[in-house]
Amino acid sequence: MPTQNKYSGMDDTVSIYAQLQDELGLTISAAETLDALETIRVAELGKKGRITSMMKELGKLDGEARKTAGQGLNALKTQIALTIEQRKAELDQAALNARLMAERIDVSLPARPQNQGLIHPVSQTIDEIVAILGEMGFVVAEGPDVEDDWHNFTALNIPPDHPAREELDTFYLPGGGELGDKDEGENERHVLRTHTSPVQIRTMENQQPPIRIIVPGRTYRCDYDATHSPMFHQVEGLVVDKKTHMGHLKGCLIEFCRAFFGVEDLPVRFRPSYFPFTEPSAEVDIGCTREGGGLRIGHGDDWLEILGSGMINPKVLDNCGIDSTIYQGFAFGIGVERMAMLKYGIPDLRTFYESDLRWLRHYGFSALHTPSMVGGLER
Ligand code: PHE
Repeated sequence: MPTQNKYSGMDDTVSIYAQLQDELGLTISAAETLDALETIRVAELGKKGRITSMMKELGKLDGEARKTAGQGLNALKTQIALTIEQRKAELDQAALNARLMAERIDVSLPARPQNQGLIHPVSQTIDEIVAILGEMGFVVAEGPDVEDDWHNFTALNIPPDHPAREELDTFYLPGGGELGDKDEGENERHVLRTHTSPVQIRTMENQQPPIRIIVPGRTYRCDYDATHSPMFHQVEGLVVDKKTHMGHLKGCLIEFCRAFFGVEDLPVRFRPSYFPFTEPSAEVDIGCTREGGGLRIGHGDDWLEILGSGMINPKVLDNCGIDSTIYQGFAFGIGVERMAMLKYGIPDLRTFYESDLRWLRHYGFSALHTPSMVGGLER
């Protein structure tokens, strides 16, 4: 057999091209980067590339040889271009996969930043109260901090000589202008609302029953010591319907107290009391123990007053244009700071409003955990 040199003659062109194709195929598939692949493409198919030069060389051949070589070389060129394209697609895909892996977001990681800003215990407690009562079907209503005498007192059946109206307890706004004038008489006087109960009146004046609202908001009284602040917060509750009775009031508030303090069998006591706007009225106490100086909510034989409640006085319904022969309901008022102090062991009310960041870092709550009945109330 004659030995075959691959460049020995044009008759061998076909096998030379086949061999070149095999070799290049291997080189191309070994290219690990798009840059390496581009270098191969330029070296073979570029203006001065090997295959390009071989095409130019064809002119030197003649006749049949040129035709055969031309066809073979064209096929080679097409095949190499195709192989490079395929390898390029592979490398592109690999690069994309690598990027997707590198830029992957782990949604199970905690969100950042975690510790920038904290929720004040008052906001947290309001959110908890709203979460519990919201689950029972109450919707949030609001009213103004600056009230008139009618909504804050008169419509709530608080008579003109009632001690709650005394200048000592109530912030009266200076007379004159839009905010009222002492000369204009009692009903024109404006006050900083002393409780959230005026929103009962505003709601019933504008809406027919069934009504089921809660009213979180700021309230004001002239008072300042370890358990009283001139500005504090309440959450009012109001239910008006055709068959509402004391059993509903009790069930609702027992359920609420147990959910709020997270004590399933928390003892709850209803103690007869008096509010002008409810009849009968009841103060609500929860079981606690004061053994060893500290206060513990839950078990023990002591009681702690935590909120006021009662069946709506029919006079109040009538004052709002709701027929008290058809409708009844109940109302309650929760002191937010008091609930926060009890649940989170905060001893002095005054510290709530001193804006001391060390205090907030100690008693504050993560901004990313909104209290909910399913997600948990107090994280
Ligand atoms: N408004 C009362 C208070 O501030 C609380 C209360 C609200 C009592 C509703 C009964 C019913 O003391």
